[in-house]
Amino acid sequence: MFDFIPEIANVTSVRPVTATETLYHIRLPNRPLGHLPGQFVQVSLPGIGEAPISIASAPGRDGFDLCVRHVGNVTEALRRLRAGDCVGIRGPFGRGVPLDEVMGRNVLIIAGGLGLAPLRSLIQYILYFRAKFKKAAVLVGARSPDALLFSKEYKAWRQDGDIDVRVTVDVAKAGWKGDVGVITDLIPHVPLPPADTVSIVCGPPVMYHYVLRTLSRLHQPQDHIFLSLERRMKCGTGKCGHCQINGLYVCREGPVFRYDRIVHVPEAVS
Ligand SMILES: Cc1cc2nc3c(=O)[nH]c(=O)nc-3n(C[C@H](O)[C@H](O)[C@H](O)COP(=O)(O)OP(=O)(O)OC[C@H]3O[C@@H](n4cnc5c(N)ncnc54)[C@H](O)[C@@H]3O)c2cc1C
Ligand code: FES
Repeated sequence: MFDFIPEIANVTSVRPVTATETLYHIRLPNRPLGHLPGQFVQVSLPGIGEAPISIASAPGRDGFDLCVRHVGNVTEALRRLRAGDCVGIRGPFGRGVPLDEVMGRNVLIIAGGLGLAPLRSLIQYILYFRAKFKKAAVLVGARSPDALLFSKEYKAWRQDGDIDVRVTVDVAKAGWKGDVGVITDLIPHVPLPPADTVSIVCGPPVMYHYVLRTLSRLHQPQDHIFLSLERRMKCGTGKCGHCQINGLYVCREGPVFRYDRIVHVPEAVS
């Protein structure tokens, strides 16, 4: 039922993350969302429209987070939401990160820009169930220090989760003491053996080509790499075909794909 008819959910908090992104905490009235890291929901506002948004928090009973970049009709209208307002929610949809293939291994999370939003769900999951994973590293890339998402959380990820968090920006500002450069520069410095490490990648389309080339150069097997893909969507349920790439339904079969399963699909990763 929740696949087709939006449920009216409560916005319980609204927090600016950067000048262009806002974090919403949302509760459904009668149930936990029941999602996996990497899945998404369709968020709607009556009379305006609907947009797919990744779930940015770990599964739990106390609602869920959505981190929205305000770019157009629906996402700009979401900017006007305040705590106490309502939104429509359908989902969760899609296939998330297959935790059974990640648990028991080293984990390398590679997040460019807004790609950190869905991957924050996995990072929180690792923090909650830390003993089920071997070593963990998170690489974060952003255009500038101002554009970094969740930067106040990195310290807790390092201290509470023993996660190796490394951050780089394309362009530094006065006072920036971290790395400057592309995210691929960080990958060879992470001391994780590629054969026993699972890499999970989410970011702008241009990033995938270079990240995959670097992981391949380090001899990481293709079946150890997971990519979260983003395409324009309408139904979210495999019915309308909007998200299709040469027969691959991103909404239903993804958005998280194991690389060896899509490497031969033209235009899946360009
Ligand atoms: C699986 C999935 C997960 C997503 N997760 C998030 C998330 O966590 N946070 C978030 O802020 N956004 C996320 N997005 C992107 C978000 O869905 C789009 O930004 C949103 O649909 C734009 O709707 P709009 O009505 O605001 O913009 P529109 O008015 O429809 O478009 C405004 C502009 O944005 C462009 N645009 C719209 N949708 C996309 C898109 N999917 N990719 C590239 N350009 C687009 C349009 O071409 C146009 O230039 C996700 C998309 C998918 C498919
Ligand atoms: S969004 Fe409709 S089939 Fe994928």
